[in-house]
Amino acid sequence: MPVALVTGANRGLGLEFTRQYLDAGWRVLAACRQPETSEAFVELGGEMLTPVAIDVTDHDTIAAAAQQLAGQAIDVLINNAGVFGPNSGQHNDWRQNFGHMDYDVWADVLRINTMGPFRMAEAFVENIASSEQKKLVTISSSLGSIGDPEKGQHFAYRTSKAAINMAMATLADELAPQDIVVGLLDPGWCRTDMGGGGADFDPADSVARMRALIEGMTIGDTGRFLRHDGYEHPW
Ligand SMILES: NC(=O)c1ccc[n+]([C@@H]2O[C@H](COP(=O)([O-])OP(=O)(O)OC[C@H]3O[C@@H](n4cnc5c(N)ncnc54)[C@H](OP(=O)(O)O)[C@@H]3O)[C@@H](O)[C@H]2O)c1
Repeated sequence: MPVALVTGANRGLGLEFTRQYLDAGWRVLAACRQPETSEAFVELGGEMLTPVAIDVTDHDTIAAAAQQLAGQAIDVLINNAGVFGPNSGQHNDWRQNFGHMDYDVWADVLRINTMGPFRMAEAFVENIASSEQKKLVTISSSLGSIGDPEKGQHFAYRTSKAAINMAMATLADELAPQDIVVGLLDPGWCRTDMGGGGADFDPADSVARMRALIEGMTIGDTGRFLRHDGYEHPW
């Protein structure tokens, strides 16, 4: 049976990926910062869900998880954990806007959204390489596309996603000889804690579409940046 490792699996899109892969009969290595207190994991339960403690900014937790999972094939690693940072639009918090930048906030957002997925790739590449499907997927955002700019500021978030796009596009070439498919997906604006209640998409629908895209990915797709509906974003 296929195995997925999902970061940020305790809520939002990560929880939805976890739920849907479990429903489809996969084993899910559900990673979050505090799995022992995750009510969502208790609700999902079952022997197919393995809670894993990972804070994507904390190398020790990633190294410990990699040790825990040594020898375990991982068909799909989903780098989903992420933060938006201060949201000037909704909360009058300007700390990632020009003229108001909080550089500690910017560094934190880069640590989570950019370095986190890269670190996960370094730690689990052998697990992915030893699997049947060999897919490394990172949840990016349309706000990380330079060629398809949306209005607004949010410099910390935008740069963090543009940077992970570059890192994963580069990694796609590096990992191609091992037949590892590297994918970047934009879920669209979804109704999660991050997206808020007024967002366009139900997380279940977006995740179902992204799962279908992941299912169809071949090595010929490596390095592509796709929206949930299959539209290819310009970089
Ligand atoms: N929702 C949208 O409209 C939207 C649009 C485009 C892209 N995205 C991307 O989709 C992904 C998921 O977003 P979401 O909407 O599901 O967000 P969310 O509901 O706010 O959930 C974020 C998840 O990331 C986890 N996380 C944050 N920092 C972490 C860290 N240092 N280590 C491990 N986990 C951490 C959170 O864990 P805790 O519970 O411990 O905080 C939570 O599980 C993100 O990468 C986001 O940028 C979302």
